[in-house]
Amino acid sequence: MHDEFLKVAVDAARAGGDVLLKYLGGPLNIEFKGDANLVTIADRQAEEAIVSFITGHYPDHQIMAEEGTTNNSVSSYRWIIDPLDGTTNFAHSLPIFAVSIGLEVNGKMVMGVVFDPVREECFTAMEGCGAYLNGKSIRVSDVDTLDKALLATGFPYDRRINPDEYLLPFREFLKTAQEIRRPGAATIDMCYVASGRFDGFWEPKLQPWDIAAASVIVKEAGGKLSDYKGGEFSIYGKETLASNGKIHEEMLNVLRTI
Ligand code: IPD
Ligand code: CA
Ligand code: CA
Repeated sequence: MHDEFLKVAVDAARAGGDVLLKYLGGPLNIEFKGDANLVTIADRQAEEAIVSFITGHYPDHQIMAEEGTTNNSVSSYRWIIDPLDGTTNFAHSLPIFAVSIGLEVNGKMVMGVVFDPVREECFTAMEGCGAYLNGKSIRVSDVDTLDKALLATGFPYDRRINPDEYLLPFREFLKTAQEIRRPGAATIDMCYVASGRFDGFWEPKLQPWDIAAASVIVKEAGGKLSDYKGGEFSIYGKETLASNGKIHEEMLNVLRTI
């Protein structure tokens, strides 16, 4: 059964990815959800393609999708979908974005698929079965000190109001890590932690659809997730710290000083 869920999620992610590639670089009918938070026709149509694919297979399952598509179903199965993670990149034709599809069963995340259609990279994981990139097993990195670590982060959409809140940890990690990147798609940042390209990632105020799928992928790749105090991670929480595990405590020490 779980294999079937994964196949449906991968095929749905590819259907969403096709829509995104069709619109990349073309007119996008940009609308603003907030002063720095935009949405395009590609977000909406990719979501429609993904949701109709999933509900075609599982009409009774619950849907939680960023742009609001729902089937009003109440079920212990909840599909959590970001049709386009990295919308700002996409709107500028910067090719760093992904489709994210996670499956929660009885309140627990059990499966995740993150698909980058530009690089044709499909990250997948199922609880207890490991994490994969295009079918090949992936693991987090072996970097064991913060000063050798390449970190990634992102800035929430209220950054114009609260810039200092986000600059403080950035400043501290600038002094303590090897380097920091801000690619612009949280799902990709976290999958890069899972595959050892990044060693750690932190970002506050992410939404469930930003982190649902990638959290399973990080865990199954041997990584660690928590909040900024080392407490239990939740996709409905306010803080995401994801790492290879080896530098987790050092990252927590930095976050605790702020
Ligand atoms: C955003 C991206 C970005 C992160 C924001 C997210 P969206 O998602 O993941 O990297 O910094 O916090 O909201 O809006 O492009 O789906
Ligand atoms: Ca997102
Ligand atoms: Ca999105």
